[in-house]
Amino acid sequence: MSATKIEVMPVAGELEQKASEMTVGEGEQEDIVDPWTVTSASAKGVDYDKLIKRFGSSKIDAKLIERIERVTGKPAHHLLRRGIFFSHRDMHFILNQYEQKKPFYLYTGRGPSSEAMHLGHLIPFIFTKWLQDTFDVPLVVQMTDDEKFLWKDLTLDEANRLAHENAKDIIACGFDINKTLIFSDLEYMGQVPEFYKNICQISKLVTFNQVKGIFGFGDSDCIGKIAFPPVQAAPSFSSSFPHIFNNRKDLPCLIPCAIDQDPYFRMTRDVAPRMGCLKPALVHSTFFPALQGAQSKMSASDPTSSIFLTDTDKQIKNKINKYAFSGGGATIEEHKEKGGNCEIDVSYQYLTFFMDDDEKLENIRKDYTKGELLTGYLKKELITILQKLVTEHREKRAKVTDEIVKQYMTPRKLAFDY
Ligand code: TYM
Repeated sequence: MSATKIEVMPVAGELEQKASEMTVGEGEQEDIVDPWTVTSASAKGVDYDKLIKRFGSSKIDAKLIERIERVTGKPAHHLLRRGIFFSHRDMHFILNQYEQKKPFYLYTGRGPSSEAMHLGHLIPFIFTKWLQDTFDVPLVVQMTDDEKFLWKDLTLDEANRLAHENAKDIIACGFDINKTLIFSDLEYMGQVPEFYKNICQISKLVTFNQVKGIFGFGDSDCIGKIAFPPVQAAPSFSSSFPHIFNNRKDLPCLIPCAIDQDPYFRMTRDVAPRMGCLKPALVHSTFFPALQGAQSKMSASDPTSSIFLTDTDKQIKNKINKYAFSGGGATIEEHKEKGGNCEIDVSYQYLTFFMDDDEKLENIRKDYTKGELLTGYLKKELITILQKLVTEHREKRAKVTDEIVKQYMTPRKLAFDY
């Protein structure tokens, strides 16, 4: 059977590198990666090299990592060194700005759909914290409570309450209060007219055909969903934050996120020049896999796939022992003979995200591959690391009062002059 090409409406500029153009051959299933679904038929998970080609982004290679280290004078974060942040758009432009001592800002976000965030959600925030500390720049964090009202079975008040709850988790990551604004769409829209003006400008430049092509909206989707993408696009423009950037329109933005969010920013980059604005730059991460394996990402809607930041030590231990997919042999004898497969072993994969010690990680990889270490050892190491991480997070979060959340969420000038 010949390959079937499914194409969607081509549009101008960057959108020609469209996510939803898929080539499906016999017996071959494409990975699905969009803001709502991440699945792969392969036990190794999404083929990220293919995804870079499909999305039209660039690989973060050794040269770029070396440049980041040179320009900042600091060692690269392990999430960069280990290829977890693996793809980018215009990162060299951001580094040029930094070298020339010109300003830029960071923008990231969270869709508050559940009380508790999971470990996967933490990844972009851990990396964003490193970026903020390393480059000393302002950060804006969008809480898309409006998005979650439109997509989930939540009332507006509940979505807004979850935005405040999740803000506590984000604050617990250690962002500097003098350099960080967290905002809820439902609140900010009424506080800052410039934000809504940008949303209107963007909306006027994107057709229904284009959002259908990018996001796969259908005729029975409510029109709120169709109108939402400009809301996530608007914080990419510094004019949405007049109090922070002194009404300047020309400050570049860098967005750290997992690659599922890229469709929003392909759209943004397409409209930016037509609005006289700069295209946002991006750094993309791979997905923190579900406990059951890399065929899907860790997702809050499936509690058995996830370790939550509210889980107890006992829950963490039980979930890893019970569900974490093993790349080891079926029996101890087979494992010792053939070795384990780190590429599909979830405990090993999790260690690559959270174990700081490069040398120890490399020894685990070698010894597990040779069959000298059993899955039980990897699980034990992982349980210890995660119990410590989640306990520390819980303690920091407990100190974040409603008053502190209010301070982070008040539109205001930050510790930078423009
Ligand atoms: P949300 O709440 O689904 O996810 C928040 C952030 O976490 C990333 N993420 C993951 N990263 C690694 N592994 C996973 N398993 C995993 N699951 C989620 C997401 O890519 C995201 O960076 N619409 C957005 C909120 C948003 C946003 C933004 C995100 C608004 N503006 C700008 C990034 C950048 C959302 O619902 O994210």
